[in-house]
Amino acid sequence: MTDYIYLDSAASTPVADEVIAEMLPYMKQQYGNPSSLHRFGRETTRAIQLARKRVAEMIGASPREITFTSGGTEADNLALKGAAMHVRSRAPEKNRVITSSIEHDAVIEPCKDLEGMGFAVTYMPVTSEGLVRQSDLKNALSKDVALVSIMYANNEIGTIQPIKELAEIGHQAGALFHSDAVQAAGKVPINVKDLGVDMMSMSSHKINGPKGVGALYIRAGLELTPIIHGGGQESELRSGTENVPGIVGFGKACELASKRIGQYQAYVSGLRDYLIETVSKEIPHSRLNGSRTDRIPNNSHFTFFGVNGEDLIIKLDENGVAASTGSACSVKKQKPSHVLKAMGFSYEEITGSLRLSLGMQNTKEEIDRTVGVLSIVVKELRELSPFKSKYA
Ligand SMILES: Cc1ncc(COP(=O)(O)O)c(C=O)c1O
Repeated sequence: MTDYIYLDSAASTPVADEVIAEMLPYMKQQYGNPSSLHRFGRETTRAIQLARKRVAEMIGASPREITFTSGGTEADNLALKGAAMHVRSRAPEKNRVITSSIEHDAVIEPCKDLEGMGFAVTYMPVTSEGLVRQSDLKNALSKDVALVSIMYANNEIGTIQPIKELAEIGHQAGALFHSDAVQAAGKVPINVKDLGVDMMSMSSHKINGPKGVGALYIRAGLELTPIIHGGGQESELRSGTENVPGIVGFGKACELASKRIGQYQAYVSGLRDYLIETVSKEIPHSRLNGSRTDRIPNNSHFTFFGVNGEDLIIKLDENGVAASTGSACSVKKQKPSHVLKAMGFSYEEITGSLRLSLGMQNTKEEIDRTVGVLSIVVKELRELSPFKSKYA
């Protein structure tokens, strides 16, 4: 697959060699259960402590504020349900949650679950660039709001929200504030204390770590209701024997991300800008979606008018390029993107959309080849389209 170009880093990333090297001993020699009292248990406990410190350092938190989970999805579920249920158990009038209409399903679905539990949920609108308006949050807030959850960066269009300002607005109304930072953590510098969030979700496989592991930052002193019950691991908050190799790998991935963040931002956003520029120059009737400036370094998202995005992905794949229409998780559900719908996109704008997301492994030469292939396949697909004459 050496010639194959991978432009789907927002879906997942290759595990770094240094990460694999640190994980291996915890599958072979150090296979003890961290709950065991003997030396095997002590060694895996020590490894988890180091990983917790590394994750905490990446976001300016203290190690005790990090709870390991099975990934971003579980971190979001724990934040949403754990916080809403806990707050309501203490203050029954706090029966409402506010979120945005462009969240990942890992937030939207727990919100629906909360609705089933009697909570009211407000899904805030966004601008045509995918930004939550601070005035909308101010207007939506009232004393009955237990929790506000707004994602740091969107997984489809890459738009970064003004989290610090939104968290402040939420707090002024007495609500807790959570942010799903799965697409942002490790790619843009984040300091949770500076941001003022109460909880923040992260995932390992978006930053060259293994799949199936993530974490929730929980501000010291904040109590949540556990959603997984059992042996009381992770300070009674997340039961289940710890995924030691995964946690070790995630910790190493965070250490690497912290070290290379400046280099990552410069290199990946440079490539991304070159891609955007070349696409707009070479491919007529194409448009960049999302914000040009408030955007994570690795995301580009386009509409190619007169083309079906899924046909485009198949054609690109046949020609050696891996791309996506948006959320890898909802593609199989075959439903139009709720994110693009919320941004007010027409059916045609949604259908013709394509996400190209980059990583450190990509090169300028790959971008040139991708745009070359893209120009050809877009043209071919337009030839077959009923709107052929419109986009000839
Ligand atoms: C914004 C966002 N939140 C949550 C998730 C889920 O994370 P995980 O795959 O670790 O469960 C994803 C994954 O794509 C995501 O992009």
